[in-house]
Amino acid sequence: MIRILGPAKIRVSSGIVSVLGAEFRSGDEFEISGYRSYSLKALSDAGIEVSLGDGSKIERADPFEEPLDDWITVADAVISECNLPCIIVVMGPVDAGKTSMAALLSNRALVRGIPTAVIDADIGQADIGPPGFVSLAMPDSWTLWLRELSPVSMRFVGSIEPAPVAGRLLSLTYDLVREALEKGAGVVVVDTDGWVEGWGALEHKVDLIRLLRTNAVIVLGDPDLYETLHKVFPGSVRYARSPLVRISRSQLDRKTLRTANYRRFLEGAPVRALELNGLHVHGSCLFSSIPYNDPDVKAKVESITGKPSPFIGKFPGGYCIVVESESPIESSTLRSLQKELSGDVLVLYTGGFKGVLVGLSDGLRDYPGIVEEVDLDTMRIKVRTYYEGPVRGLVFGRIRLVDYQDSAKRRVWI
Ligand SMILES: Nc1ncnc2c1ncn2[C@@H]1O[C@H](COP(=O)(O)OP(=O)(O)OP(=O)(O)O)[C@@H](O)[C@H]1O
Ligand SMILES: [Mg+2]
Repeated sequence: MIRILGPAKIRVSSGIVSVLGAEFRSGDEFEISGYRSYSLKALSDAGIEVSLGDGSKIERADPFEEPLDDWITVADAVISECNLPCIIVVMGPVDAGKTSMAALLSNRALVRGIPTAVIDADIGQADIGPPGFVSLAMPDSWTLWLRELSPVSMRFVGSIEPAPVAGRLLSLTYDLVREALEKGAGVVVVDTDGWVEGWGALEHKVDLIRLLRTNAVIVLGDPDLYETLHKVFPGSVRYARSPLVRISRSQLDRKTLRTANYRRFLEGAPVRALELNGLHVHGSCLFSSIPYNDPDVKAKVESITGKPSPFIGKFPGGYCIVVESESPIESSTLRSLQKELSGDVLVLYTGGFKGVLVGLSDGLRDYPGIVEEVDLDTMRIKVRTYYEGPVRGLVFGRIRLVDYQDSAKRRVWI
């Protein structure tokens, strides 16, 4: 057994080599990304040719320390004990090996010839789709990294943090499981985020397991989480160790990986103009609230903010105010507005429209787009997107991109 820390290209020259439960034979080639490390096991006398990239490493793996065999044992046991269709949820803290285990499960299901679905429900470190989306892929060949898969269906959650959107994350993940089953998947593997610490996180994870009618949970690298879930969940719960030696990603690496995936789905996309009348819009106070043309309120708002207010709307229990400005209003100004108008006061600024991530819905699936321009007079919106099909609705969230980086955070942008 050897361990390779990427980036590296590998060609099997003889014999059979196993990586993440996938079996590569003489002549097969595969790559290990610079953000990943894997162990390779020779299943027979085998030879490989490796070309190592910048900063990569190849070393002997200590078989006692190396969890690969245990992972395969756990995955094979879970799949063989499960009545199909089988829903398997992978859980664990950040960097525990969840995504690798999800790929391994997919490979082990494919070894048995079972149609397999992988759902990426980790909105912060999304691999199959862009961040903020939950995505479904139906792999028909070996997978070493979920990022190599193409999504067959996506849903826009609208945040890279699970806690503030926990309910929507649950319902959209459930929706994808249903779609995977309708598409004939025998094994559905769900990869999750690393938010597992604290009571709120635990409740959320238990809600997810129950809602998905999960057959088996595999917990990576957190014995306490394993024991707790074992008490809560009546189905099968298995534990698997995290690899001791591995490439772990810094906060900056994670940001870079998110940016790369926004770019993959959005960069170079053409602009599409959309008429908002007749579209269902979700997550936008501007487009969902009822225009409130009270000159007194408008005058008050403009005197407090010192800026023109081209739109004021009302929604049950609150106001949506648009301020013509390149930057957000001060928090003291917001407090004054909140004092003046009772209820929930949401203040948008026109300079914050461009770059907002949006989901274009065809009525079932969402496709990624990025706001280019909002015209408040005509209620039209221009969006950059590769999606060319019919649009039934729009979903807005908390993510706004500047140069494909999701640095700024707000509850509502549009
Ligand atoms: N058998 C192994 N030996 C060494 N490294 C491994 C092995 N299996 C996985 N890794 C590496 O461990 C690191 C963490 O794995 P992975 O990304 O699967 O974890 P994760 O829990 O999904 O992380 P995240 O919290 O970012 O979603 C990755 O660099 C992966 O390539
Ligand atoms: Mg992961």
